[in-house]
Amino acid sequence: MAWNNHSFQILISYIIFCFVLIHSAPQGALITQLPGFNGTFPSKHYSGYVTVDESHGKKLFYYFVVSERNPSEDPVVLWLNGGPGCSSFDGFVYEHGPFNFEAGKTYGNLPQLHLNPYSWSKVSNIIYLDSPAGVGFSYSGNESDYITGDLMTASDSHTFLLKWFELYPEFLSNSFFIAGESYAGIYVPTLAYEVVKGMDAGVKPTLNLKGYMVGNGVTDEEFDGNALVPFAHGMGLISDDLFEEVMAECQGNYYNPTSNNCESKLAKVDEDINGLNIYDILEPCYHGTEMGEILTGNMMLPSSFRKLGQTERALPVRKRMFGRAWPLRAPVRDGIVPTWPQLLKSDTAPCIDDEVATSWLNNEAVRKAIHAEQESVAGSWESCTDRISYNHDAGSMIKYHLNLTSRGFRALIFSGDHDMCVPYTGSEAWTRSVGCEIVDEWRPWTSSGQVAGYIQGYANNLTFLTIKGSGHTVPEYKPREALDFYSRWLAEKTI
Ligand SMILES: *[C@@H]1O[C@H](CO)[C@@H](O)[C@H](O)[C@H]1NC(C)=O
Ligand SMILES: *[C@@H]1O[C@H](CO)[C@@H](O)[C@H](O)[C@H]1NC(C)=O
Ligand SMILES: *[C@@H]1O[C@H](CO)[C@@H](O)[C@H](O)[C@H]1NC(C)=O
Ligand SMILES: *[C@@H]1O[C@H](CO)[C@@H](O)[C@H](O)[C@H]1NC(C)=O
Repeated sequence: MAWNNHSFQILISYIIFCFVLIHSAPQGALITQLPGFNGTFPSKHYSGYVTVDESHGKKLFYYFVVSERNPSEDPVVLWLNGGPGCSSFDGFVYEHGPFNFEAGKTYGNLPQLHLNPYSWSKVSNIIYLDSPAGVGFSYSGNESDYITGDLMTASDSHTFLLKWFELYPEFLSNSFFIAGESYAGIYVPTLAYEVVKGMDAGVKPTLNLKGYMVGNGVTDEEFDGNALVPFAHGMGLISDDLFEEVMAECQGNYYNPTSNNCESKLAKVDEDINGLNIYDILEPCYHGTEMGEILTGNMMLPSSFRKLGQTERALPVRKRMFGRAWPLRAPVRDGIVPTWPQLLKSDTAPCIDDEVATSWLNNEAVRKAIHAEQESVAGSWESCTDRISYNHDAGSMIKYHLNLTSRGFRALIFSGDHDMCVPYTGSEAWTRSVGCEIVDEWRPWTSSGQVAGYIQGYANNLTFLTIKGSGHTVPEYKPREALDFYSRWLAEKTI
């Protein structure tokens, strides 16, 4: 029988089929056990390194949680924490990962892992990526790579994605989203833009990007810098008098004060809000040794306020050790952005008690189980590192959002409305300024029959959403509400 075109096509399909079978999910990456967890994994977990620059040995670490629902249909989401310099294990351990980490009985003991009923892996395949090299478990054989910035980070993360999908080709046809919070307000749109340029240029494999989401994200020097004063006034943290005075003196320009009178009014604003927890104005401010006292404290707050800050998390949110990490009125500007440890001139991560993550991720058996290099190679794991020197070289994100949304990519800009680090007032103002027509007018959205926040939908699939009573890291403070809006948005349902 002669070969005809049809049998040839069948043969080719068969070869491709085998290739895909052989090359699906690298076996060595499968995680088979985790110290601290003695239950059954609800889905497959994989982890390892992807080399983004062979000559330098520049390697990015990922932890991939397969969806617990329908892996082949559910979207793939890349998750990025910010900093710059903070590891995406922050999201894995404290926010929307598959486990809740219960602190060890004594300091330094390994935590116990319980299943997280609000894990984002309930509805999506999710990749936690440590980026750029130097952060978390990611590292480079050449230390010059630790001098980096927005554009280099986006380009390396794009290379990572192309190589990652080559390792996991069975996920190439799933919808793909990029998500992150805080400084990832820069990482997410710059990376999405790189991905789209690659798609336009026909770079293989073809990524199936559909959209992106940013939580309490850094966006624009002016919008973010002007957000604090109206936030402080709206939250009842400064008086009407001071608000009127600061408006009159500064003429709405708080991010770059040009007169001494404006400066001195802003200094009064700072005085009023200085003692608050910048990540959640409802949470008490922890100062190291006083932590025990404050844990039972909170009593100055009226009970309605305390309820607002309550969470359904099985475990308490992280203790914040100091009032704040980021100086007030210091929006991210072009140029070198100090990492948090550099800012505080201290080795320990500021404001955050990261004992649970730090003890677990620096344990030799844990590192072995998740295929992370040992300390001698990749360094010790820190929630936020000062190993990198980081240059904010991509400017304002607004032009990126305009480009991406006008091309049909969906964008969800969400904001915990009690965060004072990147206050919702800035995100609300810049999304409004983009000038899209309102298609879903400001309204409450609900979770389990209660108002969980507010939403405003714009044309071009741009959505702004608040989470009522939540601090900076939304899924940590409001895990049920977060899973609700996350799954509705991914499924293109009304939130
Ligand atoms: C896991 O360990 C906990 C605490 O030691 C114990 O209560 C539980 O029964 C164990 N579960 C399994 C599945 O072995
Ligand atoms: C590190 O990379 C830089 C820039 O490519 C190069 O000039 C330098 O020689 C490299 N250093 C080492 C030790 O390989
Ligand atoms: C978006 O960016 C791409 C790549 O630079 C460019 O070709 C395109 O014209 C831009 N589109 C819009 C609407 O700005
Ligand atoms: C909004 O998103 C949907 C689903 O991806 C898409 O079909 C539609 O074209 C988008 N709309 C606009 C205006 O880009």
